[in-house]
Amino acid sequence: MMMNTRRMMTLIMLLTALTTMAKGKDWVTIQNGELWRDTEGNVVQAHGAGFLQVGKTWYMIGEDRSKSWNPDVNMYSSRDLQHWKFEGKIIQNGVTHPDLGKGRFIERPKLLYNKKTKKYVVWCHWEGHNYGASEAGVFYADNITGPYTFHSGERPLGIKSRDCNVFVDDDGTAYFISTIEENQHLGFFKLKDDYLSAESCTTLFKGKSREAPAIVKVEGKYYMLSSACTGWDPNQCKLSYSERMTEGWSPLENIGDRIAYDTQAASILTIKGSKQTTYLYVGDRWMDPDLPNSKTIIFPLIIKDGKCDILPAQSFQINLKTGEIKTP
Ligand code: DGJ
Repeated sequence: MMMNTRRMMTLIMLLTALTTMAKGKDWVTIQNGELWRDTEGNVVQAHGAGFLQVGKTWYMIGEDRSKSWNPDVNMYSSRDLQHWKFEGKIIQNGVTHPDLGKGRFIERPKLLYNKKTKKYVVWCHWEGHNYGASEAGVFYADNITGPYTFHSGERPLGIKSRDCNVFVDDDGTAYFISTIEENQHLGFFKLKDDYLSAESCTTLFKGKSREAPAIVKVEGKYYMLSSACTGWDPNQCKLSYSERMTEGWSPLENIGDRIAYDTQAASILTIKGSKQTTYLYVGDRWMDPDLPNSKTIIFPLIIKDGKCDILPAQSFQINLKTGEIKTP
């Protein structure tokens, strides 16, 4: 009997240790400052990154600047935002479009899934010499990893368009948000049902010269981060919020330090956990003129009681199951 109790105790201790270990595995550490390596040990090249979550897997696409100023678009996948598997080049110079790499280049590719057409759609900045083309590129595929087909490269609704992002609302309405008319304003382009083209544009933040927009919706309120237009140099990130997507945005206000902790916004991720929803700011730490060495930086974005702030943690832990974060 004595023996049985002891055995029982040992078993309980073992089970407790195993549970703790298993729980420990749910926590991942995001370390900022260094270049990321993929699961093969190669440097991750996904600048100006866009993300799409499919089930438990996160897909990330971005500019591959390893070899040239004409980036291919790389795709990676991860279940923990820490270990990234290279899925391939989903858009490639000279392959996906004959002009790509020959006077044509892509910046800030962003990924969408259209439930109606069951197609994956990429929107990006589709540019030419001296940023004079000011166009948007659209590609689509049946599978998330491609192959992607070129759909169009033009000024949406005839409007000059540069830095960009996408946002999908709860009802599936998608927007392409870009810096328009020679970097003067932001254009909120409402996309058609198939997400392949724009049906209307609302011009907002007139004359404010904002770029690198990134929008997240929290409890019915839209929050937008954006930067000023200073090339590859970091500047003050500004926040604006609204109850409606195409009107009522609050005046721009400073968020973070005067150089956005040496980053420029690329995306905002929503991590829906069992205990809480956590928001993550993903930014580029551009290394001009050494752009291939630009770093991807992730900071917790604290959005609570209608307020929003960036937590510039050098490293932090996140539990992707519960959504909790731990900062030092
Ligand atoms: C800042 C933009 O955010 C980048 O995507 C890129 O277009 C650079 N400007 C070019 O100077």
